[in-house]
Amino acid sequence: MDTLPRHIAIIIDGNGRWARKRGLPRLFGHREGVINAHRTVEALFDYGIKYVTLYIFSTENWSRPKEEVKGVFRILLGRIDEEVRFAQRKGIRVCHLGKLDALPLELRNKISHAVELTKDNKAMTVNLAINYGGRDEIIQAARRLTHEGVPAGNIDEALFSQYLYTAGIPDPDLIIRTGGEMRLSNFLLWQAAYAEFYFTPVLWPDFTRDEMDKALMAYKGRQRRFGSLIPSD
Ligand code: IPE
Ligand code: IPE
Ligand code: MG
Repeated sequence: MDTLPRHIAIIIDGNGRWARKRGLPRLFGHREGVINAHRTVEALFDYGIKYVTLYIFSTENWSRPKEEVKGVFRILLGRIDEEVRFAQRKGIRVCHLGKLDALPLELRNKISHAVELTKDNKAMTVNLAINYGGRDEIIQAARRLTHEGVPAGNIDEALFSQYLYTAGIPDPDLIIRTGGEMRLSNFLLWQAAYAEFYFTPVLWPDFTRDEMDKALMAYKGRQRRFGSLIPSD
C-alpha cells in the first residue's frame, strides 16, 4: 500500500490531437477527455488513492481560439451535475484550484456549489485545476501575505504553502503527463519540488486503466531520497 502514491496529479494532454487523428473537431477530443477523467477517478478510487489533481484548463489556455475555450467550458458545464452526484455517492470531496472569477458565471456557480456540497466527504479528494497557473498561484499567495500584514520573518515554507490554492493538500507524489510533451506547462510549480514524473506519448482519451497501471508500476520502481541518502549507501 505504501508503494502507491498518496497524491497523483495529471496533466491532461492530447485531447485535440486525439480528435484530429480521427478527422474530428478538437472539441470531440475534449468531450472524450472529460469522460476519461471520470474513468480515471473511478479507477484511482478503487485503488484507494486519496488525492487526485486534474489539470483541465491553464491560465495560458485563454490564448486559444474563443470557440475552443467556450466549447471546453460548455463540455464541463454539461457534465458537472452528473459528476457531483457521483462524488456524493462515493464520498469524494471536490476542490477547485485556480481563479474562479474569470470563468463563465454558470460554471463558476456550479463549481462553488460542488465544493461546498462535498466539503466534508472523506473517501478521496479530487482537485479540479481550471483556470489554474502555478505562477499565478504563487503571486496570489504573496499578495495575500502582504495584504494580511504577515511579518516577513514569519514566512516559512509551511506558512507559504497555506496560502496556495492547495492549502491542506499534500504535495503530489506522482505527476503524470500524457500526450508526449515533457514539460510542466505552469502546473504545480511549488508543489512539484519532489514529485516523481511519468511522461507518456499516449493521448489522454486513450489513457486507460492499463496505462495507469504502467505509471503506478514505474512509480513503485522509483527511489525517493528527498536529498538524503538511502540507508544502504
Ligand atoms: C489538453 O488537451 C486539454 C487542454 C489543455 C484544455 P489539448 O487541447 O492540449 O490537446 P493537444 O495537446 O492539442 O492535442
Ligand atoms: C497543459 O496543456 C495545460 C493543461 C493540461 C490544462 P497545454 O496543451 O496547454 O500545454 P502546452 O501548450 O503544450 O505547453
Ligand atoms: Mg496540449
